[in-house]
Amino acid sequence: MTWRVVQWSTGNLGRAAIEGIIAHPELELVGVWVHTAGKAGKDAGDICGIGAIGVRTTQDAQALIALRPDCILYSPLFPNEDEVVSMLEAGINVVTPLSWFYTKHMKVERLEAACRQGNATLHGTGIHPGGMTERLPLVISSFSQKITHVRAEEFSDCRTYGAPEVLRDYMFFGKPVEQAGESMMLGVLSGGFYQSIDMIADAMGFRLDAKKRAVHQAFPATAPIESPIGVIRPGELAAQKFTWQGTVDGKPVITAAVNWYMGHENIGGGWSIGGGEERYELAITGDPPITAQFHGIHPAKGYVLEEVLRRNPGMVATANHCVSAIPYVCAAPAGIKSYLDLPLIAGRARLDLSHHKR
Ligand SMILES: NC(=O)c1ccc[n+]([C@@H]2O[C@H](COP(=O)([O-])OP(=O)(O)OC[C@H]3O[C@@H](n4cnc5c(N)ncnc54)[C@H](OP(=O)(O)O)[C@@H]3O)[C@@H](O)[C@H]2O)c1
Repeated sequence: MTWRVVQWSTGNLGRAAIEGIIAHPELELVGVWVHTAGKAGKDAGDICGIGAIGVRTTQDAQALIALRPDCILYSPLFPNEDEVVSMLEAGINVVTPLSWFYTKHMKVERLEAACRQGNATLHGTGIHPGGMTERLPLVISSFSQKITHVRAEEFSDCRTYGAPEVLRDYMFFGKPVEQAGESMMLGVLSGGFYQSIDMIADAMGFRLDAKKRAVHQAFPATAPIESPIGVIRPGELAAQKFTWQGTVDGKPVITAAVNWYMGHENIGGGWSIGGGEERYELAITGDPPITAQFHGIHPAKGYVLEEVLRRNPGMVATANHCVSAIPYVCAAPAGIKSYLDLPLIAGRARLDLSHHKR
């Protein structure tokens, strides 16, 4: 069985997704949507830097929907619900890292109706929020009992993130540290991380307080720091930590946290990433207590900056997690489906080692 897939946008994640779709034995790339006019009509492989693959990009959304692909991997900068509804109504399954990770406590009637109308499935997935925030903690939690706390935490050096406008205009790196509170990031990110907290609470049976906690801490440079958005000067935002918590009777029981920084030296205000380097870290407080760290999802030591700005392992891993879900989502019943509804999602063997024939 081969599933026909359209990739929606060719940013960091979209370019990695195109590579992932091509490498997947059960998937065929049949179309690519671009937001940027200058990228339209080009071979998608050339945009990814992997050479021509015979699929041309387009800005014509209707033409892509008319292709009737089995699935769209939807990864533009911002979600457009109208767009997703029209895909689902047309009978196209949608996998996306933007939202809809766990919608049980959200108003999603319109999307559900679209899924019913088109007999299609919507699945939100990614890395953080996504697999690292709830799928993997839930797997690990089953080795423990009497659990009192679950933590998922990301430590990422943003000097290798190849989206300067996002770093500057949305994350506020390089702005005076006093301005950090005006950043829209806490609000933008909270929706996704709250869904993850709800998924863990429902799966593990935590009776959460109605209101969740969200905290944004900002840390200034103490000396000039070279970065992809230019030199960050003393007093400007050089590191930040976002923390989201679900509580029971006021006590935290589920924590998701993101630490984003421009290097971890020359940063004041009590900044620390604990022992170690870039990583994802999971911790289950229970009997026995269990911790896990994931490496390889960040650039390896000695990386070449130009290469990781073009193709960052974190983006590749996130894109792969979306791509890997596609066959399971295409085979699932209609509706909005989370990890809790889908079978175990696995990656695939390299094509020359695979029993699938192209
Ligand atoms: N859940 C997770 O773990 C996770 C992880 C990483 C990213 N994400 C999310 O995935 C999305 C893509 O991330 P990314 O790193 O690929 O971002 P990116 O590199 O900034 O790419 C986003 C792409 O969206 C398109 N775009 C730009 N402005 C747009 C607009 N105003 N309206 C619609 N499309 C627009 C462009 O596509 P073209 O270049 O094709 O024109 C752009 O390249 C973001 O929303 C990000 O938050 C989620």
